[in-house]
Amino acid sequence: MTQDRAPFWEALVAYDQGGVIPFHTPGHKLSTGPFAEIEKILGSNVFALDPSDQIQNSELGHDFEAVLREAEQLAADLFGAMNSLFLVNGTTGGLHCLLMPTTGSVLIPRFSHQAVYSAMILSQGDCVYVPVSYDPDWLIPLPPTVDQIEQGLAATRPEAILVTHPTYYGTVSDLEALTRLCKKHGVLVFADEAHGGHFLFSSELPATALQCGADAVVQSTHKTLGSLTQTSMLHAKNASWYAKTVQAQRVLQTTSPSHLFFAVLDEVRRVLATQGSSLVERALGLAQTCVQQLSQIDGVELLPAYLQSDPTKIVMSLRQLGLTGIEVERALRVDYNIQVELSDYYSVIALVSVGDTIKSIQALVDAVRDLTKRRSHLGARPLPRHAMDMPDLPPVVFGLREAFFRKKEIIPLKHAEGRVSGDFLTPYPPGVPIIAPGEQFTSGIIEYLSWCSGISWPVRGLMPGQNVSVLEDNSRL
Ligand SMILES: Cc1ncc(COP(=O)(O)O)c(C=O)c1O
Repeated sequence: MTQDRAPFWEALVAYDQGGVIPFHTPGHKLSTGPFAEIEKILGSNVFALDPSDQIQNSELGHDFEAVLREAEQLAADLFGAMNSLFLVNGTTGGLHCLLMPTTGSVLIPRFSHQAVYSAMILSQGDCVYVPVSYDPDWLIPLPPTVDQIEQGLAATRPEAILVTHPTYYGTVSDLEALTRLCKKHGVLVFADEAHGGHFLFSSELPATALQCGADAVVQSTHKTLGSLTQTSMLHAKNASWYAKTVQAQRVLQTTSPSHLFFAVLDEVRRVLATQGSSLVERALGLAQTCVQQLSQIDGVELLPAYLQSDPTKIVMSLRQLGLTGIEVERALRVDYNIQVELSDYYSVIALVSVGDTIKSIQALVDAVRDLTKRRSHLGARPLPRHAMDMPDLPPVVFGLREAFFRKKEIIPLKHAEGRVSGDFLTPYPPGVPIIAPGEQFTSGIIEYLSWCSGISWPVRGLMPGQNVSVLEDNSRL
């Protein structure tokens, strides 16, 4: 089978065209039937390509398991892996499959996505954190340095390390050096490549985690490459760990994965294999145009080159005009009908992808230009600069998993010193947990969280009335 074919997509279309009369699930019977509104908006074929796994029948030529394996192998060949898995629960599900089989320590940057933490609740392994440092000017979390990882390896002897490649802001670590170091110590390297699926398709973008030597990666194909939301891929170069992820997938995945999701992943892979480079180069060209035009607008600052590894993530700030990123996001949405990906105190992130056009880019640039003009007329003053003085990581009393299963109670934050947290408390954005389940409240942590809430910085996990969840009992069973 060659890359210009899409076996799963083709098999699904063939089943539909075969006109089989369905006395099997799903209940919609492959037609929009009574659901007129769904048909009006999504078209009459939307259910036709949504049969359940009841249609598996190799004798009748419907061997969807076999075509899925073929489709996944084509994806593996394209992305430079030995094996790939199609995923229907996003990169979240892929990280769960990847990390659930760990039994030792896993070194993870503290700013990792919540899916990494939830994966470690499923696992019997323990998290060891690489503390997060922030760029002092942009206040964005930075990926770990080789020195930080070297210290982590010396202190822990972990089974694996999990890196985020790239961060939400498009910044990458020196992953090749980091991987070399881990390999020297016999440590597995996994990458959360949720935002890096497109890296393969242009030499202007960073090398992919697999190219840097990672054992396995999970990519949100839906985030940067255009498949349906919820669909991701896991790519592995390490055969024995891949076998473990397959075992985990059997435990964690629905027994009725959407065939439509698989088929779209397969067809997207076919298009990428044949046109990926030109599509991604085109997106990069649009991003470049966007940046060039934005850089000429007074009051707009763009993420400097030393922080930006992925030009398709347009990170900008209007702080010189006194606007926080959160205010810019709101103004773009309310006044210009533009929704960006994320905002924080200083910046907003606008994503440019294979789905953009010069028209969408122009709309963004025009909106930002207009917003800056309006703001200048109001006699704007620059935003006060903040330092990101984070408290030290708290002492760990129980692992995430043990804390998850223990009894909890709710108490006021101000009385929490010495108690063990039952939940994550995470100022958002940027989403770095200040305390995780199983960690002990210190006076520094309480002071910092009270300060966040005092300046109306949303803290996920902080309950109404400034209450927090703690374990009923701090003692080991
Ligand atoms: C860095 C990172 N990792 C993992 C995820 C989870 O990805 P998914 O939405 O595909 O489950 C996200 C989602 O935003 C993310 O930003």
